[in-house]
Amino acid sequence: TGGVTTIDPGYKNTGSCESAITFLNGEEGILRYRGYSIEELADKADFLEVAYLLIFGELPTKDQLSKFHEDIKAQSHVDEDVKKILDGFPKSAHPMGVLSSLTSALVAFNPSSVNVDSEEEMYNAIVRILAKFPVLTAWAYRKRVGLPLEYGDASLGYVENFLKMMFKKPNSNYVPKKDIVAAFDKLLILHADHEQNCSTSTVRMVGSSHAGLFVSISAGIAALWGPLHGGANQAVIEMLEAIKEDGGDTKKFMAKAKDKNDPFRLMGFGHRVYKNFDPRAKIIKKAADEVLNDLGIDDPVLDIAIALEKEALEDQYFVDRKLYPNVDFYSGIIYRALGIPVEMFTPMFALGRLPGWIAQWREMRLRKEPIGRPRQVYIGENLRPFKETEER
Ligand code: SDX
Repeated sequence: TGGVTTIDPGYKNTGSCESAITFLNGEEGILRYRGYSIEELADKADFLEVAYLLIFGELPTKDQLSKFHEDIKAQSHVDEDVKKILDGFPKSAHPMGVLSSLTSALVAFNPSSVNVDSEEEMYNAIVRILAKFPVLTAWAYRKRVGLPLEYGDASLGYVENFLKMMFKKPNSNYVPKKDIVAAFDKLLILHADHEQNCSTSTVRMVGSSHAGLFVSISAGIAALWGPLHGGANQAVIEMLEAIKEDGGDTKKFMAKAKDKNDPFRLMGFGHRVYKNFDPRAKIIKKAADEVLNDLGIDDPVLDIAIALEKEALEDQYFVDRKLYPNVDFYSGIIYRALGIPVEMFTPMFALGRLPGWIAQWREMRLRKEPIGRPRQVYIGENLRPFKETEER
């Protein structure tokens, strides 16, 4: 049989590891990072603080957090030659493909990042990727829109500096508004970790061969890109806009989503673990209302999202399958309101998930997990003799 007698497609009923980082209860819609509820962290912490908590296991003291931030700032330059790699991409390249490539290219400019035998070497690799990934993300965006590849302002906070790197135009002194920074910071916290999801499992798998942190993250970015995973946040907005263009008939799209012969799915709905409301979706929906009110934006796409959610929650097919809005359903509405273009939505998810990927990779290495190598049930040909060309 090739080693086993049964398989578990998509690992729906398989636990891959023990972990002390994130706790999910899908039935009750509970999410906790290192024992702290997502509701409290989204409300009271900031993103860098949550990154420290996920990676090192405890909320940092004031001194620990400021040293962490200083160490990150000290590594927040990217070798000028990386710009040559970026220049090789067409403007039309999807930023997730650019980021996966540039993140693995970083190894060439930081060769020591592969050696993580000591805690200090591991820490150095971790601060380097936390420092350089926001720069690469901003540059991937700026390349698309034809802006010069610049740095932000190290005197700003981690998230504020990222927004400045993204949006500062030449000859302008762009400073992101406090409420925009706060909304964005909260979004990143909500995306920071989610136990053994597809991209995190990919980071663990690649990392289990001791291939190094940067390429493990690069593989995670690739997995997150898929529309069934992080790519859903882009697909949700594209779906809502298609419904708007089509005249706003949500019932027609609900019927498509239930038609077994139609590959169309209601993007932003359903989840492997949450069989109740995704707690993040609740917080993001509330934040979306606040951001749109703050900015005085009346987004017809939000109205369609609310109508679609109402219908889905009352639809027997969706109720039977416990399909609720997930983290991706409302996040795109906020990104749009913050002026982030749709092809940058999934990179925003990656920026948020980066500390979670790092934390899970670090835990896997510190626990000396074995290299990932599952078995299979063989269903191919039995032994057969070689056929010469003229016999085929
Ligand atoms: C993320 O794992 C994580 O934690 C991921 C994530 C994270 O933080 O890392 O939370 C982030 O990826 C959120 C999910 C984003 N993806 C989408 O919104 C894409 C749309 N959703 C689906 O493709 C689906 O719900 C998944 C991929 C999220 C979950 O898929 P499963 O668990 O493999 O479930 P399934 O595909 O077997 O569906 C079960 C049933 C099927 O119907 P039946 O064959 O039983 O009759 O529900 C149906 C599916 O057809 N179904 C949907 C649907 N999702 C599931 N039908 C219509 N629209 C949908 N969105």
